[in-house]
Amino acid sequence: MSMGKLAGRVAIVTGGGNGLGAECARVLAEHGASVAVADVDGDAANRVAESISAQGRSAFGYRTDVSSEEDVKAMIAQVREKFGRIDVLHNNAAVLNADQRQRDRDLVNLDMEAFDRAMAVNLRGAVLCTKYAIPVMLEQGKGSVIFATSGLGMQGDMSLTGYATSKAALMMLPRLVASQYGKKGIRGNAVQIGLAPQHEMPAPLLEIMRDNHCTAELGTPRQIADVVAFLASDESSFVTGTTLVADGGFSSHTPSLVAMRALFEKMGRTGM
Ligand SMILES: NC(=O)c1ccc[n+]([C@@H]2O[C@H](COP(=O)([O-])OP(=O)(O)OC[C@H]3O[C@@H](n4cnc5c(N)ncnc54)[C@H](O)[C@@H]3O)[C@@H](O)[C@H]2O)c1
Repeated sequence: MSMGKLAGRVAIVTGGGNGLGAECARVLAEHGASVAVADVDGDAANRVAESISAQGRSAFGYRTDVSSEEDVKAMIAQVREKFGRIDVLHNNAAVLNADQRQRDRDLVNLDMEAFDRAMAVNLRGAVLCTKYAIPVMLEQGKGSVIFATSGLGMQGDMSLTGYATSKAALMMLPRLVASQYGKKGIRGNAVQIGLAPQHEMPAPLLEIMRDNHCTAELGTPRQIADVVAFLASDESSFVTGTTLVADGGFSSHTPSLVAMRALFEKMGRTGM
């Protein structure tokens, strides 16, 4: 019997077949949760679940397109039937493949299909999963719903218009969960995730990003998963309706900081 901080809990991680979601699934399982790995890529979901099971932990994969109400309803029903409860829902799924990122551009050049897809998966998907998971949590009088959002939902950038607007809207959802179901034991929080690269990025871009962090390095999947595990567990029992920023200080400093640092270095000033 597992004695971790999530022992006996059941967690769903959407988009858990790859990247940060896969790491979150592994870390939640490490803390004792039984994990349902839900992903539109069913093979990837199964692979992650199998790798968790191979460690002697409990996980199952579910092929689920979170933008489909039918899929979500079926997945939640199956998880409930299999495990008998749902304690944690981590709404991590987002459409981020190369084709999507190429078409989800600045407003004038925006491909509206890509915009609609971003909204359907990133926002509607999270709404659907939350809509169907909360009734199960209400039966238990307890639950934690987590939303993966991004600095791009807070600050303007050159591209990814659909992604950014979907992530901005996601920041409202934890407040709604907290306001609507808090008295019944359900908490809702978002994690504003900084850069924990899952896709290849050109070196000059990585350098710009690194310069703009207040930490020595960019984030790792484990650092994000640790925050998710905190929000999933009772360690965060007084935290609800909020967005926890895990971005290495990327959004904390003045816009001029990097240029100032370079200027001071040029002037020979030390101590910064
Ligand atoms: N990696 C980062 O640096 C970063 C930064 C900020 C925010 N985030 C957020 O973290 C989350 C995970 O990002 P990632 O970098 O690991 O992405 P990723 O592309 O590696 O993984 C996303 C997963 O979602 C799945 N998915 C896509 N469409 C789906 C659908 N319709 N239904 C179910 N699953 C679907 C994909 O198959 C994939 O497994 C996203 O919500 C993203 O916005 C990531």
